[in-house]
Amino acid sequence: MKPRNFRRAALAVALAGLATAGIGADLAPLPEPKFNAAQAEMGKFLFFDERLSGDAALSCATCHDPQKGWGDGMPLSKAYPASEYFRNSPTLLNSGFKKRFMWDGRLDGADMGTLVRDMITEAHTMNMDGRLMQERLKQVPEYNEMWQKFRKDDINGMRVFNVVGEFVKTLVSKNAPIDKFLKGDQNALNGTQQEGYALFKGKANCVACHNGPTGSDGMLHKTGVPENPAITAEPLRHITMARHYSTSGMPNYMNTHVDVGSYAITKNPKDKGKFATPSLRDLKYTAPYMHNGMFKTLDEVVEFYNKGGGAGSELRPLNLGDSEKRALVAFLESLSGDPVTVDKPRLPAYKARVFGKN
Ligand code: HEC
Ligand code: HEC
Repeated sequence: MKPRNFRRAALAVALAGLATAGIGADLAPLPEPKFNAAQAEMGKFLFFDERLSGDAALSCATCHDPQKGWGDGMPLSKAYPASEYFRNSPTLLNSGFKKRFMWDGRLDGADMGTLVRDMITEAHTMNMDGRLMQERLKQVPEYNEMWQKFRKDDINGMRVFNVVGEFVKTLVSKNAPIDKFLKGDQNALNGTQQEGYALFKGKANCVACHNGPTGSDGMLHKTGVPENPAITAEPLRHITMARHYSTSGMPNYMNTHVDVGSYAITKNPKDKGKFATPSLRDLKYTAPYMHNGMFKTLDEVVEFYNKGGGAGSELRPLNLGDSEKRALVAFLESLSGDPVTVDKPRLPAYKARVFGKN
């Protein structure tokens, strides 16, 4: 190999090494959200409208409650009546910037419409038939008017999914101290928080996986969070998990009593126990933490990482002292902004159709 090429190859190897170790990666300020304003305005109504679920009892806000950090505040999520879910309901804040959706990363972050379709039509979330939803919405005159602001045809079930998605894209953290700091305001973080940030990027190396604007590399990792015993002890939760495995075509799923994470999707044994790195923003409002809500506080989370995570994890022990742990927690808190809430709008009522008019 000629010396110049050799140098280039050596540099490429070195850079690849840096990328996998996460060195050089950092957090970044949040970009401006992009969404269609007219669609987002209608999407706001639909987000809170229970008529989008089969039995007209649940809306998106039931499990993604603006008063509870856009999650539901419980370790494991509820589900459509007569079911219970086996994972935590994640916050919707900043989902417009995610690379993957769902704890196991099974959906593409660029395709919010498909995610909303699943939430509305899956039997364990809103259990709604798309055609029934379309006809229900067409029977609400105000919804037809809102629709006309961005389309000239009738309300169409498939497009409704995108309309809800446009509203979700508006949900973005505001005024987090970290954004001011990253934009150059050295006083935005106090001394302890800055010490925590140095640990985050240095000794604790959280930044290897938690980087970019949301604090997520968008990749799948194994940290070994302990199982939530409720997913086997409570039949309703176990049923939902088994149903998820059988739909995904996972082999031997009836003998699986743990949440295998992305393995159910990829069927690659290396992916057992891997989950998508979540955002670290607005943690102040989104406890309990992890895919199964096993940690109630950030102190517990930091303690978990300090021990090197759980069984089979790709982490290593950190040997942080008490004041270092406190600094790291103080830094994590600085990733939260002002509360982002939206009031439930007054929902327009059904009205019998006047033929030829609405
Ligand atoms: C019955 C509870 C429930 C309802 C109702 C519900 N969701 Fe969810 N949502 C969840 C749970 C639980 C997950 C995580 C599922 C998983 O990872 O397996 C989730 C995941 C999501 C995600 C992915 C977030 C991420 O960080 O990966 C988005 C976005 C979302 N829901 C939006 C919505 C919208 C919009 C609606 C209404 C159309 C809705 N959800 C209705 C419980 C619910
Ligand atoms: C190897 C990649 C990796 C490293 C390194 C890492 N994390 Fe994580 N983190 C993850 C994954 C994956 C999850 C989700 C795990 C789950 O739900 O089972 C997670 C979850 C979290 C959560 C919960 C977020 C929520 O909304 O539930 C917090 C808080 C967190 N990590 C903080 C940290 C801190 C602090 C460090 C450094 C001490 C760190 N992480 C290092 C990959 C990583």
